[in-house]
Amino acid sequence: MRFSKSAQKLRASAIRELMKLAADPTIISFAGGMPNNDLFPVQAIDEIYAGLSDSAKKTAFQYGPTEGFPALKESLKEYLRSRGLPVDTNKLLITTGAQQAMNLLAKVFIDEGDKVICEFPSFVGSLEAFNSYGAQNVGIPLDDEGINIAALREALAKGELPKLLYLIPYFQNPAGTIYSSKRKQEIIDLLKEFPDLILLEDDPYGELWFNEEDVPLTVPMKAITQDSSQICYVGSFAKILGPGFRIGYMLVPDEVYNKCELAKQSQDACTSTYTQVLADAYLRNNALKPYLEWLRPIYKRRAEIMLNALEVNMPKEVVWTTPKGGFFIWATLPEYMDADDVFQIAVKKGAAFVVGRAFDPEAKKNNAIRLAFSHTAENRIEEGIKIVADAVKQLLK
Ligand SMILES: Cc1ncc(COP(=O)(O)O)c(C=O)c1O
Repeated sequence: MRFSKSAQKLRASAIRELMKLAADPTIISFAGGMPNNDLFPVQAIDEIYAGLSDSAKKTAFQYGPTEGFPALKESLKEYLRSRGLPVDTNKLLITTGAQQAMNLLAKVFIDEGDKVICEFPSFVGSLEAFNSYGAQNVGIPLDDEGINIAALREALAKGELPKLLYLIPYFQNPAGTIYSSKRKQEIIDLLKEFPDLILLEDDPYGELWFNEEDVPLTVPMKAITQDSSQICYVGSFAKILGPGFRIGYMLVPDEVYNKCELAKQSQDACTSTYTQVLADAYLRNNALKPYLEWLRPIYKRRAEIMLNALEVNMPKEVVWTTPKGGFFIWATLPEYMDADDVFQIAVKKGAAFVVGRAFDPEAKKNNAIRLAFSHTAENRIEEGIKIVADAVKQLLK
């Protein structure tokens, strides 16, 4: 077939392949970065739908404006305002998941060969979106406070200025880490030095903190800076309502909004009105706050169980992150170990995870694994970690 150049760049997502494993009930899967089905607010949504007027239900079945269902835009703005985000000086575009926001931003900013600076490791879905428009993804390591600022400066000084700086600062996927306030300020200051650089601030997990004292860390850079014109902020309902709603959004400067809205018109005309109507009522009924209050301790407990199991079972050659929120732990194996080999052994014994290469912006390094604690029932986490740890032990030199 005479496929296009962009089709030729498409690679099978390791995540989507592994997602199939998550569906096999005999495998303890730490692979899917998603909530467990038992955690969804099904009853609240049932009640919301039952309570809609006939005309609201009919509206829900209809096409809507490309930019988003107007009522949801208003209620979402209210919510974003409560998180300190500058909704009055920026524009809000509802997207079909945050994934579409990444795709639209990649489409409007990236030409073949443009550089995108990402964290190492970074979210595979975004890396693939950038890649599909011909970006050259450059990974900069994370340290205890966020992206390593010295290495970032060095990368910015080299050659042509990158088009985008892509960061997931709050409970990162896959590393689970959060930026310090100091590092956020350093990034904000850096943007002033490079006025043509756009920061893509991706924040699907910020609400899922474990301890209230960490809330100040979750305040987005877009909310902190006086001048947010270089920051494209992306959020999602996937982890705080349900990925199946496919509702994400971007809060961006006017110019970016205009281009992205045009690009979205030809992609899907509009995000599902049906789920936007439900999400709007969910926000208006103030259902999000109590749901999050119920959800946070559940994830906190799962993380604690996993951390404890790692402590007990993993050999000392392995190090891992200690998340303060979100879904993930990132474990780094000895340099010589290939996560594919660990995977092959572990999956035969009944446990799965995602190998590190999927999250390397350059798709090379494979001596790490991503362990999601969000999807696995508490009583199976320890058993699964023991299987993974045994596989690692078999491969130690
Ligand atoms: C960091 C990050 N960004 C974006 C997304 C995509 O979110 P959505 O399901 O809203 O498309 C995810 C989903 O896992 C994610 O982890």
